[in-house]
Amino acid sequence: MRQLFPALRVCDTTDVYADLVFDSADREVWMNVVTTLDGRTAIDNKSHGIGSATDHVLMRQIRAGADAVLFGAGTIRQECVSPGVPAVLRAARIAANRRPQPLSVVLGGRDGVDLRGRLARSSPDDLVVFLPHEADPAPLNDHATVYRAESGRPDPVDVVHILHERHKVRRLLIEGGPSIYTAFLQCGLVDQIFWTVAPKVSADASAADMLAGTAYGGPPSGALLQTIFEHEGELYLRYRLPKR
Ligand SMILES: NC(=O)c1ccc[n+]([C@@H]2O[C@H](COP(=O)([O-])OP(=O)(O)OC[C@H]3O[C@@H](n4cnc5c(N)ncnc54)[C@H](OP(=O)(O)O)[C@@H]3O)[C@@H](O)[C@H]2O)c1
Repeated sequence: MRQLFPALRVCDTTDVYADLVFDSADREVWMNVVTTLDGRTAIDNKSHGIGSATDHVLMRQIRAGADAVLFGAGTIRQECVSPGVPAVLRAARIAANRRPQPLSVVLGGRDGVDLRGRLARSSPDDLVVFLPHEADPAPLNDHATVYRAESGRPDPVDVVHILHERHKVRRLLIEGGPSIYTAFLQCGLVDQIFWTVAPKVSADASAADMLAGTAYGGPPSGALLQTIFEHEGELYLRYRLPKR
């Protein structure tokens, strides 16, 4: 593993995002995404095959600094997700006075969320589900703490507020997919983007890219490059976004 920016140095994978666990900055929303070199976020409707084993290690390091990890219903429909961190990072979290595992959060769809076999852990203490107004919360009540939007889809601003006020979430990590990235970016809620560029070319024009939908998000805003790491041709980029 090499760091390319801001310093040029050889380093260990465990160093890359080690600062996040002990970071005590104010409330933040982070977004973590992996794409192919040609910008695709899924291969055969799954993200898992894009990033390397090193990317998966770094993904867990980012999670280790988060109080909650959020997924959209579209991702849960396509992939099994297991938003936990391994024992060594769990110990670091406890040492940093955090809950041993990040809270899992799902933004459900109009058809609810079928969680059976989809999320590794599931109880009202460690899973929070936000549902659109028209979805039926009853099937989830034994497995999750459920909030239903007053109208339409869950609003990202309300989600961040409720997670902070009722679940003490200061660092919220958005792990996708593209519709959810879009919703949080368009609300100006994302403070940092962790972006892995895998050295793979999909050449699949039908596959999803980083954003989804057609809504205009306003003029582009600048982002400040924080760090770049590299391993076997895979790039790990970290940017900070201005508050809107
Ligand atoms: N490369 C990566 O880093 C990465 C990461 C995660 C996922 N993925 C891939 O992304 C794909 C899934 O992405 P996706 O865009 O289809 O689904 P998604 O972003 O995971 O979830 C979107 C769904 O969540 C529901 N939702 C609830 N509140 C919402 C809101 N405020 N805004 C938008 N949607 C809201 C909607 O359901 P309704 O339409 O029923 O209302 C919507 O269809 C999968 O193939 C997965 O493998 C890639």
